[in-house]
Amino acid sequence: MDLKQLNAFIAIADSRSFSAAATKTGLSQPSLSRLLKQLETDMGVELVDRYHRPLHLTEAGTFFYDKISAILTEIDTVTSMTQRLSTPSSMLNIGFVPSVLYGLLPEIIAMLKQSNPDIEVNLKDISSYQQIEALKSGEIDIGFGRFPHQDPWIQQILLRYERYVVALPKAHHLAHIQEQRLIDLANNRLILYHQTHLPIATTVSSTSIKPNNNTKSRSADPSALSAPITEPLLHLFAQYGISPFMTTTVSDLQVALGLVAAGEGITLVPASLKTVRTDQISYQRLVHENVTSPIYLHTLKDFVHPSISDLLSAIYQVYEQRGITYRQQKFVSQP
Ligand code: BEZ
Repeated sequence: MDLKQLNAFIAIADSRSFSAAATKTGLSQPSLSRLLKQLETDMGVELVDRYHRPLHLTEAGTFFYDKISAILTEIDTVTSMTQRLSTPSSMLNIGFVPSVLYGLLPEIIAMLKQSNPDIEVNLKDISSYQQIEALKSGEIDIGFGRFPHQDPWIQQILLRYERYVVALPKAHHLAHIQEQRLIDLANNRLILYHQTHLPIATTVSSTSIKPNNNTKSRSADPSALSAPITEPLLHLFAQYGISPFMTTTVSDLQVALGLVAAGEGITLVPASLKTVRTDQISYQRLVHENVTSPIYLHTLKDFVHPSISDLLSAIYQVYEQRGITYRQQKFVSQP
């Protein structure tokens, strides 16, 4: 068994067709077919059922695919990390979720450049979950996101908790109330914007919200409260025993704020978003102090970019200048 055979098998399994796999890999169909046959002969197991179109994996093939694709991803990660170790780059590639860009990110980068004028920074807008793959592939050196990750390759630092505020249309009857309670908001349509196709929301009852159902509203199912609710905003309400009356799910935070501006509902956003569309949206504090969104910094465990400690110092300096509460932490493996 060798890597060529394994990569051929993965390409065939992903494309479910020899011709598509040939285009993808740049190998000829007969070569791919021969590599697959050799692999099956070496293992003494039929992996692909060739009698159906599109091609099917056998039960053994499905098991092998799941396990071997994880191993091949690890090989890619180790290869890319080794290459980066031998030729460290002076460029610091930073992945971020949009909500941190509205907050302190620009100020932090300015602070970093002030203390480190030669540093080159490249910023990439990339979702929390995609950041993990991007860290492993070397596309980014650091990721700022709002979800914790459990991954053997990744280490994370919890930077701080940011309070949520409620965003209401300016004409809403609650728009001028300065300290809002979640219970008073429950009979409004709540606009959800977190990426619910990701693992975080898979346990939300499908009768309560439907991932990416755009602007369709649905009544919340009371039984949803008995299942663990992992959609972040519904989870906040559920902590207080509240199930919002109606929800609408949109693709991102910008769209959610657009709908609030159009009078379609309300939403909760991290406080740093308070500057967006202020002519149409009223942002108000919540009385609940623990209704917060964490900000995490993620990086690889085994490869810490040489500029990351300077970046962390810049973050803490900005927090201190602004009087933001934080708990200083260090990476496990410093360069
Ligand atoms: C913050 O708002 O705390 C933050 C934003 C971007 C990067 C790091 C921290």
